Amino acid sequence: MGEDGKEDDMKDTFGPAGEAEYFAPAETSQHGGRPSGMRHSIRPRRALARIADADTPREDTPAPSDLVKGSRRSLPDTDAPRWQELPEDDFGLRKQYEGHAPLVDFHRDGPLRRAFDLLRTRLRHTAQENRWTNIAIASPTSGCGNTFTAVNLALSLARVPSSRTMLMDFNLRNSGVADMLGMTPRGPMRDYLRGKTPMRDHIVRVGDTLALGLNEGAETDAAETLQDPDTDLTLSRMRAALRPELVLYDMPPMLEHDDVSAFLPQLDGVLLVSDGTQTMARQLVECERMLDGQVPLLGVILNRARASSIAKY
Ligand SMILES: Nc1ncnc2c1ncn2[C@@H]1O[C@H](COP(=O)(O)OP(=O)(O)OP(=O)(O)O)[C@@H](O)[C@H]1O
Ligand SMILES: [Mg+2]
Repeated sequence: MGEDGKEDDMKDTFGPAGEAEYFAPAETSQHGGRPSGMRHSIRPRRALARIADADTPREDTPAPSDLVKGSRRSLPDTDAPRWQELPEDDFGLRKQYEGHAPLVDFHRDGPLRRAFDLLRTRLRHTAQENRWTNIAIASPTSGCGNTFTAVNLALSLARVPSSRTMLMDFNLRNSGVADMLGMTPRGPMRDYLRGKTPMRDHIVRVGDTLALGLNEGAETDAAETLQDPDTDLTLSRMRAALRPELVLYDMPPMLEHDDVSAFLPQLDGVLLVSDGTQTMARQLVECERMLDGQVPLLGVILNRARASSIAKY
């Protein structure tokens, strides 16, 4: 909490202050001196109507974002691989560890890992309760740590035994997931989404619990791709074939491009990443307005949290 009460202003904007939870004190990364403090809260703004019978097994129940009448989503892809049939790949994490990005897999007992594990568990519970699958990680402006959060959250989720998490790099303009994990993408995400590349040639599995959709190249008409009906069809077929528990989408900055807005119909929830060193309260309010009435804002993650940044709020 800020000495001048400014942090409370932000909490008020996003829900009752009592619901906010903060984890992991601000700290300095061992990799280049960047701050790696992270705080977050998961507070569903509004529950989506429960669908189907509570006793229905999860596999048989489509996510709310899949309930679109008259869409082509019901058409199965008979050639699609199942989860265990996905081609396997490896992280080049050693390179990253020696490089710049602090990743939870290399900080087994540190505050970073604890913070992401807490976030992971709250997200899983909220998603299971509401039968949500498709979660966007978004931030107001570039450089807030969106990819950093998406990657670390995915790694944390992937440590849950027998779970299935997918991480899709949907920042088609400035992709960062492959680089952060030290991996080589198999091709442009656009070609996969638009049906030119089959799933087995694009999506890879790392271990038993994580699958990745990486992106190669930069696309200027990303927002058009994300609202293309072919993208809708590709993603619904992907979920039907692979049956992931959660699909995380690493998105481009909300206030700089219309990609997140374009993709809202596909989403069940949004996690907003705020940078303690640059994000302004009014930018968060603007993002919340963009989501209002369309997709629940699950919570705000305060990245690079440190006392000196609080004054900006
Ligand atoms: N909490 C943190 N601690 C240490 N390094 C961090 C932290 N958050 C982000 N970084 C580093 O800051 C840089 C920018 O982060 P990142 O790539 O996640 O930003 P982004 O919001 O995805 O940017 P863009 O919108 O341009 O894609 C990366 O090198 C990342 O590793
Ligand atoms: Mg990014």
